[in-house]
Amino acid sequence: MNDKLALPVGTTLDRFIMRKQEDFPFATGELSQLLRDIALAGKIVNREINRAGLLNVTGAHGQQNVQGEEQQKLDVIANIRFIRALRNGGEVCTIISEEEDGIIQTGNTKGKYVVAIDPLDGSSNIDVNVSIGTIFSIYRRISEVGQDGTEEDCLQLGTRQVAAGYIIYGSSTMMVYTTGCGVNGFTYEPSLGEFFLSHPDIRTPKTGAIYSINEGNLNSFSDGIKNYLRYCQDNNYSARYIGSLVADFHRNLLKGGVYLYPATKKSPNGKLRLMYECNTLAFIIEQAGGKATDGNRRIMELTPKELHQRCPLVIGSPDMVDKVEEFLRAEDLAAESIVKAANDVLQ
Ligand code: AHG
Ligand code: MN
Ligand code: MN
Repeated sequence: MNDKLALPVGTTLDRFIMRKQEDFPFATGELSQLLRDIALAGKIVNREINRAGLLNVTGAHGQQNVQGEEQQKLDVIANIRFIRALRNGGEVCTIISEEEDGIIQTGNTKGKYVVAIDPLDGSSNIDVNVSIGTIFSIYRRISEVGQDGTEEDCLQLGTRQVAAGYIIYGSSTMMVYTTGCGVNGFTYEPSLGEFFLSHPDIRTPKTGAIYSINEGNLNSFSDGIKNYLRYCQDNNYSARYIGSLVADFHRNLLKGGVYLYPATKKSPNGKLRLMYECNTLAFIIEQAGGKATDGNRRIMELTPKELHQRCPLVIGSPDMVDKVEEFLRAEDLAAESIVKAANDVLQ
């Protein structure tokens, strides 16, 4: 018999979190509890997604979120589930969510942590059985414990994240997270109701041959991005774009590739949100050996000024991100030399 078939099922997420906590003698267990709360809400949302077609929870909710995007019923349900789990868990004082206008106070004034969450990413794919996800970042509050958290607690640099992760509801459901000591992935076993460690210490390939971008926006990309896309085509790269950031990111993380959501005419700052999407995935990709920039600057060093701030995103295998930046710099240099030539003529 194949030896592998007889292997034990493996380490559960709970046990893994507990073991990691033991590595830090002064850890209080609060962050561990918080991660478990998120995993629990993820299981509940997973159940709802799996049955969406049967429970009449597909389709639009009939309202727009603060960013003017149409909310789907499952966006709203997932938002409620995660906020409820974090409120009941007790470790989080304040939450910011892509689906909510302002900051949310949980009432747990003793909670040391702040969470930023995109409860359901890939809304346009909900009704068509395509992978979607949840994205979350955890920060330690700056304000004193014993009162509500503040906007300042929520608008911290990405470099200050203490943990970041996502749950992908796909052909199987997985939770992938980092606390700054590498990235680990856990696959959900629905019949046991547990996440099991399936992808220990994920490292992203240094380079790859997949590029992921909404090429329908081609006409409104900058020349640098257009030239990079031509380079990908000249080199026979594969285009892969699901339209759920989590799913596109997850594939590229494992296989090697680059995901781009650059500025477009419609979205001059890009479409993706710094606090709920970009910083989170930036922390994960860096921990896996990759890179994340806005085409020029490191994502995790961008100063957040507002909760729903958007920024362009180039993320993935380090050599591929470098290549994109090379094309963008070449475009800047070309623009500078045109300006210089024009000034020379005028003088
Ligand atoms: P959300 O569903 O949380 O609003 O995020 C949607 C995002 C992201 O998941 C995806 O990569 C991107 O929107 C797709 O945008 P386009 O349809 O413009 O390509
Ligand atoms: Mn999203
Ligand atoms: Mn969303």
